[in-house]
Amino acid sequence: MARQILVTSALPYVNADIHLGHLLEHVQTDIWVRFQRMRGHDVRSFCGDDTHGTATMIRAQQEGREPEALLEEVRTAHEQDLAAFDVVYDHYGSTHSPSNQLLVNEVWAALRAGGHVTEREVTQLYDTEAGIFLADRFVKGACPRCGTGDQYGDNCDACGAVYGPEELTDPKSTLSGTTPELRSATHCFVELEGFHDFLAEWTQAPGRMPTETANWLAGAFLSEPLRDWDVSRPAPYFGFEIPDAPGHFFYVWLDAPVGYMSSTFDWCEQTGEDFDHWWGNEDCEIHHFIGKDIAYFHTLFWPAMLSAWGRPLPTRVQVHGFLTVNGEKMSKRKGTFVLARTWLEHLSPEALRYYFATKLSGGASDMDLNLEEFVAKVNSDLVGKVVNLASRTARFVEGGKLAAHYPNDDGLFASAERLGDEIAEAYEACDTGKVTRLVMGLADRANEYVEAHAPWTLRKQEGREDELVAVCSVALNLFHQIVIYLTPILPRLAAEARDLLGQSPTPAWSESKTALTGVSVGKFRHLMARVDAEKVDAMIAAGTTAEPTDGASEAASPEAFAGEPLADVIEFGDFQKLDLRVARVESAKAVEGADKLLELVVSLGGDERRTVFAGIKAAYEPDSLVGRLVVVAANLAPRKMRFGTSEAMVLAAGEGGKNLFVLGVDSGAVPGQRVR
Ligand code: 2FM
Ligand code: ZN
Repeated sequence: MARQILVTSALPYVNADIHLGHLLEHVQTDIWVRFQRMRGHDVRSFCGDDTHGTATMIRAQQEGREPEALLEEVRTAHEQDLAAFDVVYDHYGSTHSPSNQLLVNEVWAALRAGGHVTEREVTQLYDTEAGIFLADRFVKGACPRCGTGDQYGDNCDACGAVYGPEELTDPKSTLSGTTPELRSATHCFVELEGFHDFLAEWTQAPGRMPTETANWLAGAFLSEPLRDWDVSRPAPYFGFEIPDAPGHFFYVWLDAPVGYMSSTFDWCEQTGEDFDHWWGNEDCEIHHFIGKDIAYFHTLFWPAMLSAWGRPLPTRVQVHGFLTVNGEKMSKRKGTFVLARTWLEHLSPEALRYYFATKLSGGASDMDLNLEEFVAKVNSDLVGKVVNLASRTARFVEGGKLAAHYPNDDGLFASAERLGDEIAEAYEACDTGKVTRLVMGLADRANEYVEAHAPWTLRKQEGREDELVAVCSVALNLFHQIVIYLTPILPRLAAEARDLLGQSPTPAWSESKTALTGVSVGKFRHLMARVDAEKVDAMIAAGTTAEPTDGASEAASPEAFAGEPLADVIEFGDFQKLDLRVARVESAKAVEGADKLLELVVSLGGDERRTVFAGIKAAYEPDSLVGRLVVVAANLAPRKMRFGTSEAMVLAAGEGGKNLFVLGVDSGAVPGQRVR
C-alpha cells in the first residue's frame, strides 16, 4: 500500500554557504526520498533557510542593507548549490515568512494556553555601544580555566573548558571591542519538565531514532528533571516579536523547526494541496533528517511543542554523525572546509553522492571523507565495475536491438532480482553502505560473466552473431538492473544509462524485476569519468586560499561581485556616506599563506596610512603597484582577517583572478583628496 511520507532536512543557517557537512545530510535525505518515490509512495520533501538571530542582524548591519535583501540572495545561492548536487525539494522555504510567523504564533498560543510558559529575569552581557545583548559567540576574552586569550564565550579552544560568557576574564564584545556589562532582562521559558513522561516514552519508542541517540537522551537528559528552555530574546533581535510580550522576540530555535511546516504551508498555497493532509493527519509519516549536534532540539523541544499544539509527531528522527575530512575536523586553513561551489569547480557531484552513500549506515556515528579512498572507490566501483559493464558491451550492439527473448544467463538476473528486497530494506533503513556493497557484489558477478563470454572475441568470429547479441543482452540487462538499484544515489547516471536503452529517465523500483528485450540500443556515451587525484589536490589547494566566509568579508572580496547584475538604486545620502579617497601605494607585498592577497600600505596624505589586504595577487606584481595612485573606501569599518586587520578597501573592476584592474587616478591628484 502506498505510504504518505513527509521528509525534511535541517534548515541551513542563512549565514553560511553550503559546504560538505550540509551536503552529507542533504544527499542522505535526497537518496531516501528518491528511493521512496521509486517504490511508488506519496512523498514530499521540504527544506528552507533558517534565518533569524543576532548573527543575521549583525551581518545585515555590517553590509548596510536590510536583512530581507540578504535572505533572498542567500536563499538563491543555497538552492543553486543543492540543486547542483541533484538535491531536490518540493519546496525550499524560509523561516522569515508570513506563514512561519502565523504558525509560530499558533504554537505559542498553545504553549501559553497549556500553562507551559513562565517568565524570569536573565542576566546577560550587554554591549552598551552596539546596544545589544551579546550571544556567546559575540564575546571574547581569556579562558577562566587556563587563561588562554581570545576565546569565545562558550568554550575554550585550548583546554576545552565549557563556561558562560560572563565567566571570561577581561571579556570584550566582538562587535565594538568594548567591555560589556552585565544587565538583566525578562525572558520567557518553556517548562519542559511538564513533558517529561511523554518524552521518556516517545523518544524510546523502537525505530523512533538511532539507538545511540535514544540512549544518549535517556542518560544525559531524561534521567533528571528537564530544565526550562529559554525561548525569548529582548530587542533588538532579528526574528518575530512575541505577540503577548512586546519588545521580546522568539529565539531562533523556537521558530526554526516550525519552518518545516511553513515550507509545507507555502507549497500547499502554490499547489492547492491541503495543509492538514500533511501536518494534521496521523496517516502521514513525518521523517526529519538531522545531524547529531541538533538532536535534542528535534527530540525534546520539538516534540514537546508539537504535543502541546496537538499536531502529529515525527515518525522518525534520522540522525547522522559529524563529517571529518581525512580524519580531522574540516579546516579552512587546511583547505578541507570545502564549499559546495568549490567542489563543483573541480569534481563531479555524483562522485560525492556515491562516496557518501558508501559510508552512511543509518546510525549516528561520525563519518570520514578520506580523499584517497574517495578517488579509489569511485574509480574502482563506478568506473571500473558499473560503467565498464556497458562500455565493454554496448558498442557491439549499438544501433541494433537487445535479444527478443532474454537469454540463458545461469540465473544471474533472477538472483539479482531476489536480492532487490534486501537492497530495498537497506535503503529503507538508510543503510546505503550496505546497498552499495550488495550492488557491487552484483557488478562483480556481472563482470565475471562478461569476462567468461568475451564478446570482443565473439565479434571477430563468423557465425556467432546471435551469441554476441545474447551475451551483450545479458550484460546490458545486468547493468540496467544495477543502475535501477543505484538510481536513488546516482540519478544522473541512471537517466543517461536508461537513455542508452530507450527508457524514461527515472525507473520504478519494480522495473528491476523484468529484463528488457527487443529494445533498441543507442550510442554509448561515456557515463562517468575517472576521478583524477590531481583535481582533488587542486580543490584542497583552492580551499586554503578561500577567504573566510563571514558576511563582512564576502562583501569586500572582489570575487563576490563577479558577473553580478547592477545593484539596487541607493539614495544620494547613502552614496555620500562612502568616503572614497585618493591614496598612494607605499608598499606592496604578498601575504604568506594566502594565495590571493597582497598586503598594501597606502598613504592618505600627511602621515595617515592604512594597511589594506586586497585580493589582487593574481593580477599584479606587488612592485608594479608601488607609487601608484588608487582609490580607496576609507571609512569602511576595519575588518579582522586571518592575516591582520584590513583598514580600507582598494577599488578595482573586473571578474577577479588575473582579470582585475585597480582603479587609478591621473597624476596631479593628491593623496587624501576626496573622490566625487
Ligand atoms: O543547525 C543548523 O544548521 C540549524 N539551522 C538547523 C535548523 S533545523 C530546523 F529546526 F529548522
Ligand atoms: Zn582554557
